Amino acid sequence: MRTKIKAILLNEQTDYEVTIKGWVRSFRNNQFIALNDGSTINNLQVVIDFENTGEAIIKSITTGAAIQVDGMVIASQGKGQRVEVKASQLTILGDCNAEEFPLQLKNKPSLEYLREIAHLRFRTNTFSAIFRLRHSLAFAIHKFFNEKGFVYLHTPIVTASDAEGAGEMFKVTTLPFENTPRNEDGSVDFKEDFFGRATNLTVSGQLEAELGAMALGEVYTFGPTFRAENSNTARHLAEFWMIEPEVAFNDLKDNMDLAEAFIQYVIRYALDNNRDDLEFLAQRLIEEEKSKPQAERSEMGLIEKLEFVLNNQFERITYTEAIEILLQSKPYKKKQFQYELQWGTDLQSEHERYLVEKHFKKPVIVTDYPKDIKSFYMRQNDDRKTVAAMDILAPGIGEIVGGSQREERLDMLTKRMEEMHIPKEEMYWYIDSRKFGTAPHAGFGLGFERLVLFVTGMGNIRDVIPFPRTPKNAEF
Ligand code: 4AD
Ligand code: MG
Repeated sequence: MRTKIKAILLNEQTDYEVTIKGWVRSFRNNQFIALNDGSTINNLQVVIDFENTGEAIIKSITTGAAIQVDGMVIASQGKGQRVEVKASQLTILGDCNAEEFPLQLKNKPSLEYLREIAHLRFRTNTFSAIFRLRHSLAFAIHKFFNEKGFVYLHTPIVTASDAEGAGEMFKVTTLPFENTPRNEDGSVDFKEDFFGRATNLTVSGQLEAELGAMALGEVYTFGPTFRAENSNTARHLAEFWMIEPEVAFNDLKDNMDLAEAFIQYVIRYALDNNRDDLEFLAQRLIEEEKSKPQAERSEMGLIEKLEFVLNNQFERITYTEAIEILLQSKPYKKKQFQYELQWGTDLQSEHERYLVEKHFKKPVIVTDYPKDIKSFYMRQNDDRKTVAAMDILAPGIGEIVGGSQREERLDMLTKRMEEMHIPKEEMYWYIDSRKFGTAPHAGFGLGFERLVLFVTGMGNIRDVIPFPRTPKNAEF
């Protein structure tokens, strides 16, 4: 039986025997090992008896080596830790050549360098803290919906439809590259393909979630989604995880209330359960910010920022109000925005960040966007120009949630599908949900990695998913 380091550090008692296994983080004075087993950000100090430990073993205690220690937990003689383990026996489970181990060679490896060795970066404090937090947030998400009586619905990864109608899909096919079967007009004949039709990786589970909500009432999805948008930014992945609740009988206001309560719940969970990791990441952020010019540094520390989000309601404004604010803003007047801005254009990241970071200084929910820049399924407002959409914008990130009240009126929906060239016949199953017992309903999608970015204070989305998929990058 091995005891985890976290349990030892939390245990008030001393003077008991343990067996621990982990990886050496450092070894100093031929006596003190800082040992980590992944259960906590904190290392356990192991004190070895140099005189009675074989030379070969001493030589093998290098950074990165896997070891087993049998010994006694005692009150620490030194400063810096409450307890330590006095080793009675030390076994090398797997040695680690110090001359080759990349994390030994570099003193303080940069995040960019660690991205190149993503298979080893788990072994740093930063990445172990991030992935423990990612886990906790995922758990909190399921806990939140479970407590509210939602049903976790598994929607397909391989699908024949394009939920967003944006055409940013990865094709799924077993057809050969050469001698691909063709129709008379030269297009690929998917009848010969595995599913007998063209298929792709899902961009969103929303449409299927709507079908579930129309019977189960409250459902959510939490799964991988894929977008073949070629945006090489610090906020986009080709493969990301999305949480999509869908609720029958909810309107846009209910949808906003749910999203706000949801985000606050999972942040509170992380603060309550991952304090050590958050404190470590907060310190990391302070160090990182030191290299930035004063004006670009954030005014709040990481934990302060998270607590602020818990204690303040999100600002709620319409798209029209957002445009008015932006047209009055200093950067607009000084022509500092890169992208065009007028009623009808989509908000770009620079506009979103101005609203949250400079104007309101808190998360903002923007509602009622022009219908022409949003998806076909959103409910048209009475003005006929806007739809009941909502985006939640977070400081430092921009859009973190996109959602809407759905168009539940059969005639309005089919008309909109025609206008936007969405294949109505193929999507008969979606239309059926409006034919048979239709009801108002609403939902949203939270980009999981954007949430993890926000909570960890990291700056690049590649650093909050274990194995990032981005243009020209699909290692492992
Ligand atoms: O705004 P989006 O495209 O909305 C939908 O997919 C809806 N079907 C959701 C719904 O109403 N059920 O995406 C939702 C969220 C975004 O706000 C963003 O956080 C995240 O998904 N997202 C991405 N995250 C990482 N990389 C990408 N390429 C992303 N695209 C969207
Ligand atoms: Mg969106």
